[in-house]
Amino acid sequence: MSTLKRTHTSGQLRMTDVAAAVTLVGWVSSVRDHGGLLFIDLRDRYGMTQVVFNPNRGKEFYESAGLLRPEYVIAVRGVVSARPAGTVNPHLDTGEIEVYADTLEVLNKAETPPFEITDESKVSLELRLKHRYLDLRRSAMQRRLIFRHKVCQAIREYLDRLNFVDIETPVLTKSTPEGARDYLVPSRVNLGKFYALPQSPQLFKQILMVAGYDRYFQIVRCFRDEDLRAQRQPEFTQMDMEMSFVDENDIIQVIEGLMATIFEKVMGKKIAVPFPRLSYREAMASYGCDAPDLRFGMKIKDVSDIVQKSDFKVFLDTMKSGGQIRGINANGCGSYSRKEIDDLTAFVGQFGAKGLAWFKVEENGLSSSITKFFPAETLEKLQKQMEARKGDLLLFVADKPKVVSQSLAQLRLHLGQKNKLVDAGTFNFSWVVDFPLFDYNEEAKRYEALHHPFTSPHPDDLPSLEEKPLEVKARAYDLVLNGVELGGGSIRIHTPEVQKRVFRLLGIDDESAAAKFGFLLDALKYGAPPHGGIALGVDRMVTLLLQLDDIREVIAFPKTQKATCLMTNAPSEVDAQQLNELGIRLVQ
Ligand code: AMO
Ligand code: AMP
Repeated sequence: MSTLKRTHTSGQLRMTDVAAAVTLVGWVSSVRDHGGLLFIDLRDRYGMTQVVFNPNRGKEFYESAGLLRPEYVIAVRGVVSARPAGTVNPHLDTGEIEVYADTLEVLNKAETPPFEITDESKVSLELRLKHRYLDLRRSAMQRRLIFRHKVCQAIREYLDRLNFVDIETPVLTKSTPEGARDYLVPSRVNLGKFYALPQSPQLFKQILMVAGYDRYFQIVRCFRDEDLRAQRQPEFTQMDMEMSFVDENDIIQVIEGLMATIFEKVMGKKIAVPFPRLSYREAMASYGCDAPDLRFGMKIKDVSDIVQKSDFKVFLDTMKSGGQIRGINANGCGSYSRKEIDDLTAFVGQFGAKGLAWFKVEENGLSSSITKFFPAETLEKLQKQMEARKGDLLLFVADKPKVVSQSLAQLRLHLGQKNKLVDAGTFNFSWVVDFPLFDYNEEAKRYEALHHPFTSPHPDDLPSLEEKPLEVKARAYDLVLNGVELGGGSIRIHTPEVQKRVFRLLGIDDESAAAKFGFLLDALKYGAPPHGGIALGVDRMVTLLLQLDDIREVIAFPKTQKATCLMTNAPSEVDAQQLNELGIRLVQ
């Protein structure tokens, strides 16, 4: 057992501590032998302190210090001393002092780590995830996780002040549809039956409103077995909340206050509230997506009507088959080479666009290999509609609305990045509102809930729910930050009748509704208050606030693209005995 007990952390000592006898513990960060004096940087979560071993303290002591290697865990006792003039390190909080050691204890040795534990060392993500304990020891990672903790503390304090109650909901539960596949857990005591891990606490929080809790929140893990694109993890954390007797504006205000509080308390910054709101229709028309990055312009414009007057077959055929032609003005990109334009064409090809029509704006009008198909009058109108000036490049996609939106949305972001139109230091919040209630799934030939099946239709649209489902507006809202969907929520359906009507439109008949959501339909019969809520992605929020671009940078133990944990090797095979007990036999 160690006889030395820590008196200070490695980030704590200052000039005012000079001459004090102290004991520090931590990890050896580096060892430097300056012929006659041995210097060690001692690291812990709080910082770094330089420790000096002087041979005058005795040969044996000096030699044992010489055996120290990076990542050894040690305790040292010594005396704080001012660093000699010229050796002060302004980059270190403790840079004005050093500790002259008189006692050293090695608490544990360490093998040479597979990478250096510094913020600078460039290491592959794979190696970092495999040795996550070493990666998390780096101060950049420690700062991120501590920042995340502070965000969560700010959330808890703020919501507690507003009378929200933190209530835990089950992890072993029944499937709640949020649009992804469920993770299933077999039940040993109920052979052949399965729990589903919650995709969100959606139904439980609604039940808590029925139970009269009025204001609920939870910082909660959610599980979704979905294709892991960027910003997605199979298990992730939501700041989930629900309120009774509210409308959209109440929820929006609470969240705006929450974001302002996080910025102020955690980042020492002020942000302007309320956030601007734009309708789903506006977002799709001008930005091609429902989570627009509003940090720069380059809005999408529709030119379908204008280009009707032309002989360009691609455009005319598209219009005939019910498509549209929209485009963007890439300001100042008129000098792009043929190769650059070909690259952009290949880029939009990834999103289904069959081509990219372009015009360069020159002194006396538009120039392109396709201008010959357009009358001068059409070219002029095109130029006007696109607000084009000399030196601009106009880019158009002709296709079905979905393809046009998707490819132009991505092209816009791509050009924004390529031309450095985005100021990385800005935080641009907005709300997207007035979503449609349903989307039509062409492949499955059925309606799907755009948000989830518990979202309330707009009351004005209730009478025409069955006649014109695609025109029904939802009482839903999404919070967007810098082009990323940070959260989504809605006012809920609170009567069993409306809930059943929506289920039927989604192809869930009364019988299967009773089997899947009977408990919700029952609860709605016993005095359910009007209610609504929202959930914010905590991992995404922290990633964006820290201006990082991978949510794995703010999750202690994340999964890979293939949903594996490289440290524990989960998922893994299990014993035949375990499978037997669960009545499960694997088929090849
Ligand atoms: P929704 O499905 O929109 O809403 O999820 C809310 C927020 O959770 C985050 N998120 C994710 N983060 C990381 N990895 C994922 N795989 C992932 N999936 C979602 C996003 C998203 O905006 N029950 C509703 C909320 C409600 O209606 O109150 C829900 O879960 O930031
Ligand atoms: P083509 O007639 O195929 O040689 O195409 C002439 C120009 O129109 C090229 O610049 C193509 O990239 C572009 N183009 C082809 N199909 C489309 C489309 N669906 N939308 C926009 N531009 C297209």
